Amino acid sequence: KDQAAPRISVIGTGYLGATHAAAMAELGFDVIGVDTDPYKVAELTEGRAPFFEPGLPELIRSNVAAGRLRFTTDLAEAVAASDVHFICVGTPQQSGSFAANLSYVEAATRGIAAALTHDALIVGKSTVPVGTGARLRAIVAEAAPAGVDAELVWNPEFLREGKAVDDTLRPDRLVFGGTSERSEALLRRVYATPIADGTPVLIADLPTAELVKVSANAFLATKISFINAIAEVCDAAGADVALLADALGHDTRIGRQFLNAGLGFGGGCLPKDIRALMHRSGELGAHAAVGLLQQVDEINMGRRQRVIDLALQALGGSVLNRRIGVLGAAFKPHTDDVRDSPALNVAAALHLRGAQVVVYDPQARGTAQRLFPTLGYAESKEEALAGADLTVVLTEWDEFTGADPAALRELASGGTVIDARNCLDATAWNAAGWTVLGMGRVPAS
Ligand code: UGA
Repeated sequence: KDQAAPRISVIGTGYLGATHAAAMAELGFDVIGVDTDPYKVAELTEGRAPFFEPGLPELIRSNVAAGRLRFTTDLAEAVAASDVHFICVGTPQQSGSFAANLSYVEAATRGIAAALTHDALIVGKSTVPVGTGARLRAIVAEAAPAGVDAELVWNPEFLREGKAVDDTLRPDRLVFGGTSERSEALLRRVYATPIADGTPVLIADLPTAELVKVSANAFLATKISFINAIAEVCDAAGADVALLADALGHDTRIGRQFLNAGLGFGGGCLPKDIRALMHRSGELGAHAAVGLLQQVDEINMGRRQRVIDLALQALGGSVLNRRIGVLGAAFKPHTDDVRDSPALNVAAALHLRGAQVVVYDPQARGTAQRLFPTLGYAESKEEALAGADLTVVLTEWDEFTGADPAALRELASGGTVIDARNCLDATAWNAAGWTVLGMGRVPAS
C-alpha cells in the first residue's frame, strides 16, 4: 500500500457526503466520514445507507469490510487522522428567505480549522452562493492553529440522486477552484482514477468554481421550465409536447435530456439552488439573472397548479370527499427523497381541498409519511387505486409505467388518469378503458 496516499475525511454524510466517502474509499483511500447525527453514523457503520440510493449500501459495506472506510461523530479525531477534508454538508433554503443557509458550511469549516493538527487541504463540495469560499477562507485563517498550513479550495459536485454512485466514480468533469500548484497536484492524486479514465479537469478561480455548480442547476431548471412553457402552448394549440421534445432533441445543440414536460422539478437541489442564485444575483446587482430565474421558478410552480386544476376538472369542479389514488411521492424515481417533491405537494393540496387522498410510492412512503402524516398511504398501487374516483400519476416509477392498465382499471371506480409526468403509454391505457389526461399532450384516441 502506498504509504504517502492522502488520507481523507468527509464532513457530512447525506446523499453527497455518504456517496463521496464510499467512492473515495472505493478508489483506494483511507476515508473517515463524519456526521453530527449518531444514528446516521451507526447505520453507515453497519453498512446501511440512511436513505435509498441504488448501489450505495453495497459500496459502503465492501469498503467498511476492507478497512478503508469508517464513520464517526468525532470531527476532531477525523481531522487529526486525515490530510484532505471534504465539506459535504447541506445548504438548505433559509426559512423566510430565498437565501441559502450557510450555517452548516461555516460550522464545518470552523470545526475543521480549529481541529487541525498538521497541514491540510480543505475542499468545499457543498453547493454555495458565489463569494462563500472567500468568507470561509477568512474563517480558516482565524480558526486554524498557528504554524499549521491550511488551504481552502472549491470542487463542486454534480451528482444526481438515484445515480449518485456512478456520477461520483465517473463524473462528466472535475472543477478545481482557487487551487495553488500544490493543492491542484493533491486533488489530481485524489481523482487520479477518473482523470486516467478521461474525465476533463477545469482549473478555475474560487468564484467561478462556485458559480459553475449553481449555473449548471439553473440551466437544467431553465430547460425544464422552457419545455413546460411550451407544453402550455401545446395544450392551447392541440399540439403534442412529447413529440415536439423528441424532434427538438435531435438537434445536438439542444439535446433530448431534461426536456420531459410535466409536473416540473423538485428535490433538495434545483428549487433551492435557483432561489439562492436569484437572491445572490440580486445582492450583486445582476438583475437579468433575477428576472430569468423568477420566471423559471414561476413556470415550475404553475405546473403543480395545472395538475390540481386537471383534477378539479376531471371530478366536475370539486374534489371534496372524492377518493383520489396517487401514484408517486418521491420528487423523481429511484430515490426516497421527498424534499420539495412536486408529487407530495400536489397530493397535499388535493387533501386540503377535501379529497380522500391515498398515496403509494415504491420507496418514499416512510419519508412522505413523516412530512405529511395526515395523507392516506397504501402498501401497493392496487390498494391506492381500489375504489378511486380519480387516479393521478405524479412520479414516473417503472412500477407505474410498466403496470397492466387493464388490471388497474378493474380496481378503480373512475376511469380517468392524470399522467402528470407524461410517462404512461397513453394508447395502451386508452385501450384498457382509461381516459388519459397528459400535460401538453394530444389526448390518445
Ligand atoms: C440535480 C442535478 O441534476 C445534479 O447535477 C446536481 O448535482 C444535483 O441536483 C445537486 O445539486 O446536488 P437531482 O436533484 O438529483 O440532481 O435531480 P435531477 O435528476 O436533476 O431532477 C430534478 C427534478 O427535475 C426532478 O423533480 C425531475 O422529475 C425533474 N425533471 C427532470 C423534469 O421535470 N423533467 C426533466 O426532463 C428532467
